Amino acid sequence: MTIRNIIIDTDPGQDDAVAILLALASPENVNLLGITAVAGNVPLALTEKNARIVCELAGRSDVKVFAGADAPIKHTLVTAEHVHGKTGLDGPKMDAPKMPLQDQHAVDYIIDTLRAEPAKTITLCPIGPLTNIALAFQKAPDIVERVQEIVLMGGAYFQVGNITPAAEFNIYVDPEAAEIVFKSGAPLVVMGLDVTHKALATAARVQAFRDMGTKVGDMVAAWTNFFERFDKEKYGSEGAPLHDPCTIAYLINPNLFTGRQINVEIETQSELTRGMTVADWWRVTDRPANAFFVGDLDADGFFALLTERLARL
Ligand code: BDR
Ligand code: CA
Repeated sequence: MTIRNIIIDTDPGQDDAVAILLALASPENVNLLGITAVAGNVPLALTEKNARIVCELAGRSDVKVFAGADAPIKHTLVTAEHVHGKTGLDGPKMDAPKMPLQDQHAVDYIIDTLRAEPAKTITLCPIGPLTNIALAFQKAPDIVERVQEIVLMGGAYFQVGNITPAAEFNIYVDPEAAEIVFKSGAPLVVMGLDVTHKALATAARVQAFRDMGTKVGDMVAAWTNFFERFDKEKYGSEGAPLHDPCTIAYLINPNLFTGRQINVEIETQSELTRGMTVADWWRVTDRPANAFFVGDLDADGFFALLTERLARL
């Protein structure tokens, strides 16, 4: 299998942090070119800082981190401190990062990198609102056909919504951006709540992180313990869903996941269902397929992979 060049676009977030760690721990599968931060779970000043904290935790202060959009294209920013805490990365206290933030704007970094590298050799992994990706596509439409694939966390069909009855958080925060990305024609893999709600960090799986006996293992265990309270209270689930690492795990071993190539449209007009991913799972329309919409995963295989990889850090 060839090594994929990737850019992670993110709003850390504990589960975003685990996704970044998984990528950094898997150089034989993914080459992390850079991290672009976006406003989402918490404001931009915190997400770019958290991205740098995570890189330093992994001993990778050489990773380039860029700050991007501080607000969605049209709407006022909605954040998720109720899930991730005041800092976005609540749990054990972390030192302020020493590594620098890059000067270039994240949107320009995405554009320049896609133009500089050979066409179809870069995969984008957005695991927050899609603002940066959409702004890059708007500013430089020529880059869309240069993208190898977009493997994103967002949306839901059977699970419907987590931030409203109809919408998943990442899509809800910036539906106009999501619409641009879903209509772009770039190949899409969509990890929605239907699959990520099955990636549950149960007590036994969290213990496996702790059993690594490393700083990273302890931190991942503490983070998942912190944000599991939200899903336990709301869904009665057995632990925190590790939404965002599903994207990186897919790049490492797509056989862990199953889904359907279908049409997915984004609701932008309705107040009631804003940000809904209208997924034609049952193929009841003749709208053309634009996404591989993932519905299930081998959860034990996913956690085995995650534990094996994180233990390397
Ligand atoms: C998504 O929203 C955020 O809270 C998580 O980091 C994840 O990307 C799940 O709806
Ligand atoms: Ca996220």
